[in-house]
Amino acid sequence: MKTEILKITDRAPVDESKLKKAAEILRTGGLVAFPTETVYGLGGNALDAGASEKIYAAKGRPSDNPLIVHISCMEELPPLVKEIPESARKLAAAYWPGPMTLILPKSGLIPDTTSGGLPTVAVRMPSDPVANALIRTAGVPVAAPSANTSGRPSPTSAAHVIEDMNGRIEMIIDGGDVPVGVESTIVDLTGEVPVLLRPGAVTLSMLESVLGTVELDRVLTEPLAPDVHPKAPGMKYRHYAPKADMLLVEGPTEMVVRYITARAAKAAAEGKKVGIIATDETVDRYPHVDVRSIGRRSDERTVAHNLFAVLRDFDDDGADVIFSEVFSGDELGLAIMNRLTKAAGYHKIRIDENGNVEETGGAR
Ligand code: TXA
Ligand code: MG
Repeated sequence: MKTEILKITDRAPVDESKLKKAAEILRTGGLVAFPTETVYGLGGNALDAGASEKIYAAKGRPSDNPLIVHISCMEELPPLVKEIPESARKLAAAYWPGPMTLILPKSGLIPDTTSGGLPTVAVRMPSDPVANALIRTAGVPVAAPSANTSGRPSPTSAAHVIEDMNGRIEMIIDGGDVPVGVESTIVDLTGEVPVLLRPGAVTLSMLESVLGTVELDRVLTEPLAPDVHPKAPGMKYRHYAPKADMLLVEGPTEMVVRYITARAAKAAAEGKKVGIIATDETVDRYPHVDVRSIGRRSDERTVAHNLFAVLRDFDDDGADVIFSEVFSGDELGLAIMNRLTKAAGYHKIRIDENGNVEETGGAR
């Protein structure tokens, strides 16, 4: 299949006449990749079981992993769900359009292929003007997972999407680099207490400020035992995975830099191609191997923004092993650490103030 690349540069407002063909592709069961504020999405008509099947095929993704349904305005929500709980109204009023996905009981309109056979549906209203105009013009809700091949880091630029999807789908809309860089926050509102299933740019404290109590899904805090089925089925896969073995190193900065430098030298001596993920604050302190800054430690938004691109760069370089610094785990840091921890397959080194080293995880 020949994939058409459509560049959209005028974003405020978007010239909707340019999106006519893309909208038509979606309406007639084809696939269009498009930018959102979080990552690029691989879109198809959410109400068309055939389109969902094409999405799974294009991604090489297991079909038990449900898709997020994207809408452009509140009026599009009621037909998709059985009910809209008060908690959903409040969160939508506070953070939609934006990087937040709500899990709600699904209506009969949503095919089982879209919801991965679950009785619930994930819904999100993206704030990106191209995404919003595309959904509105198409006139159908748009199912869209991240537009990467399954198992690869999510795409944050059109170049990433082209790498993974060229020749597999009808169209890719190039809207430039995305601003956020990590996927949306997912909140399950189908139980008694709201549960955070995947951390993102709408942070835990932002959710708590609207809802009061919010629980963290267990898979966010501990490695997944083989018998546990996470509520967000996607969380069980070793996602965002660079091809290299990855190791996170936590501790006082000085010691982390020294430890990574020593391990990197050892791995290089063994003939391995080594990558180091540093920060703007530390990047100059490592020896001249393949070391990249992932952003400013003092501004974690830059870290989230660069995270997947850096992982892809190391893939392209053919890195065998990657050592990475770690981040706070608070606010946006929770999303960053969730993605890094999964990329590393939970492999982590902790160094205390006395220089004692503890290594955990790592078995794949
Ligand atoms: O930011 C985003 O959310 C991006 C952009 C394109 O909107 N999309 C995205 O989709 O990240 P995807 O398919 O890569 O991740 C969707 C996650 C998966 O972990 C999936 O298991 C979970 O959402 N999910 C979808 N429907 C669900 C449901 N009904 N219940 C629980 N989890 C669900
Ligand atoms: Mg994904």
